[in-house]
Amino acid sequence: MNNAKTISHYEDEEQLFFPDSSFSTRANIQNTQIYDSAWVDYKNYWMGEAQKLHWFKPWDKVLEWHSPFAQWFVNGKLNACYNCLDRHLEGWRRNKAAIIFEGELGDRQVWTYQDLHREVTRFANVLRGMGVNKGDTVTIYLPMIPEAVITMLACARIGAPHSVVFGGFSAGALRDRISDAESRVIITADGCWRRGKAIPLKSNVDEAISQCPTVEKVVVVQRTRVEVKMEPVRDVWYHEIMRKTPAGCQCEIMDAEDVLFILYTSGTTGKPKGIVHTTGGYLTGVASTHRNVFDLKEDDVYWCTADIGWITGHSYVVYGPLANGATILIFEGAPDYPGKDRFWEIIEKYRVSIFYTAPTAIRMFMKWGESWPQGRDLSSLRLLGSVGEPINPEAWHWYHKNIGRGRCPVVDTWWQTETGSIMVAPLPGITPVKPGSCTKPLPGVFVDVVDENGKPVVPGGSGYLVIKRPWPSMLRTVYKDPQRYIDTYWSRFAGMYFTGDGAKKDKHGYIWVRGRVDDIINVSGHRIGSAEVESALVEHPAVAEAAVIGRSHELKGQAVTAFVTLREGVIWATELEDDLKNHVAKRIGGLARPEEIIYAGELPKTRSGKIMRRLLRDIAEGRVMGDISTLADPSVISQLLERKIAI
Ligand code: WTA
Repeated sequence: MNNAKTISHYEDEEQLFFPDSSFSTRANIQNTQIYDSAWVDYKNYWMGEAQKLHWFKPWDKVLEWHSPFAQWFVNGKLNACYNCLDRHLEGWRRNKAAIIFEGELGDRQVWTYQDLHREVTRFANVLRGMGVNKGDTVTIYLPMIPEAVITMLACARIGAPHSVVFGGFSAGALRDRISDAESRVIITADGCWRRGKAIPLKSNVDEAISQCPTVEKVVVVQRTRVEVKMEPVRDVWYHEIMRKTPAGCQCEIMDAEDVLFILYTSGTTGKPKGIVHTTGGYLTGVASTHRNVFDLKEDDVYWCTADIGWITGHSYVVYGPLANGATILIFEGAPDYPGKDRFWEIIEKYRVSIFYTAPTAIRMFMKWGESWPQGRDLSSLRLLGSVGEPINPEAWHWYHKNIGRGRCPVVDTWWQTETGSIMVAPLPGITPVKPGSCTKPLPGVFVDVVDENGKPVVPGGSGYLVIKRPWPSMLRTVYKDPQRYIDTYWSRFAGMYFTGDGAKKDKHGYIWVRGRVDDIINVSGHRIGSAEVESALVEHPAVAEAAVIGRSHELKGQAVTAFVTLREGVIWATELEDDLKNHVAKRIGGLARPEEIIYAGELPKTRSGKIMRRLLRDIAEGRVMGDISTLADPSVISQLLERKIAI
């Protein structure tokens, strides 16, 4: 299935879905004026949103903008953990469920706000006891268990930025991230459950930190009880140290611009970048958008299926919902274990009312068939969300009909690790939607589509997605590399933030995101840099050169396809292909494993020696070849075409 084609097909149909009056008359935002007023005075709009948080001291100025460096809520003081926990303890909310946790094996935990506060303050004391100070970065490498939230909030409480590394990343990727962040403390678990099997995690940490001299302490949560090697002094069990540590811990008074966390994401070079988010603006952005886009109500049970290791987990599992005092659901396992209706069973069991997932998951559910959700009571649902990649209209309709039963608005939310919070999405009570379009920028957000020269495209035109004014939850820089921040985001178009996405703007001003126009591959909503996979491949002794592209894939959105040339004397064989795939998975993580590796005698290059990835994409997707006149040696293409058959 070619997503881009399907989307434009629908664009012409102008299929509009208006908010149902039973929803819109109860919606948090009912007045369409909000768009105009926020665009007229965006600083004032964001100030109003920031005032909904708890501040120890108000700011002197809303925005200080020395392009491209922003400071929001200058000199304001607050604490993210205080906003997510302490302020909910005063009234009845203290006994509200903050976290409902369902383990893979069906085990269950419920944590009230009061419970969570107790454990978070206790763990904050553990960290302080280990000498972690304000400004020290702590690396968290955990599965989707409540301790992931507890440890993140504990870091926020004492002003220690966290760097959460997705549990699916390999030891090598973990090592790179720990080294860059120079963490002294790592938090991990013995393992996690996946489809009934215990997957080890601690052993990856052992392997990673053998090359990380900064690491002094490893805290290990017991989850699977698989045997792990505990290094005396360095390694401590979470439950043991928690037993010995008192609860109750004063939170650090943070400046609005103090760093809340670093999150590594793939870029267009081999080295992942540490995206830096600060406290005041980030929390304002995530709390505001979570309330407005998901129309959060006090009695909602809110479930975002993202892993804590991604930005969606940070913003819409942890900080946004907890700042708003919501009940969040966390699920450890896979959607098809033990049955393909596990998600629907969970929704039925906990009466989930807001459900936020990715198009890749929806396409998988479509493939499994509607009988799975049909067998479950999904009447508690009132709003559905989508994130991570363009949602193709077929998937949108399937989701709307089979999960939302035609009753629930679907909010397609466009944003990025760098934007911190949702930028383009409908406000479900007032914005008509077109399946496949994330609609229009949120109030106070200036997203546009521009041409090569940075001029806005005319309605109906296509170009590049940019953001024209600063927004509170924007990344502040790339960790330890401000030049990379300037070069990557602020150099393509003068005075504008370049998202890396291509998009179309239709005649109603609606935005249709096409996907990345750079060398980032979006596999099942996860970002993988071509260059990262290429450098993993060339590390292998058999490989001389590698070029990696994303080709369209029916379920994953995109799949990683690698083209390799081999060193002298190496002979291509199926075993070598498997070996190379495993090598990439081991070096980066399973999500980067190439779908296929194509042996090339030579790679197509321009006369100046640049690999022409565009042509490789044409080959992999079976398209008519684009312009090959700049190729140094056109015969390379015919050789490749003969070999590609396997895809
Ligand atoms: C893509 C995930 C179309 C886009 C929150 C972006 C989307 C990248 C959408 C960021 C959407 C995310 N429609 N494309 N609703 N949401 N994307 O940093 O290409 O993991 O640049 O953040 O995902 O991925 P990231």
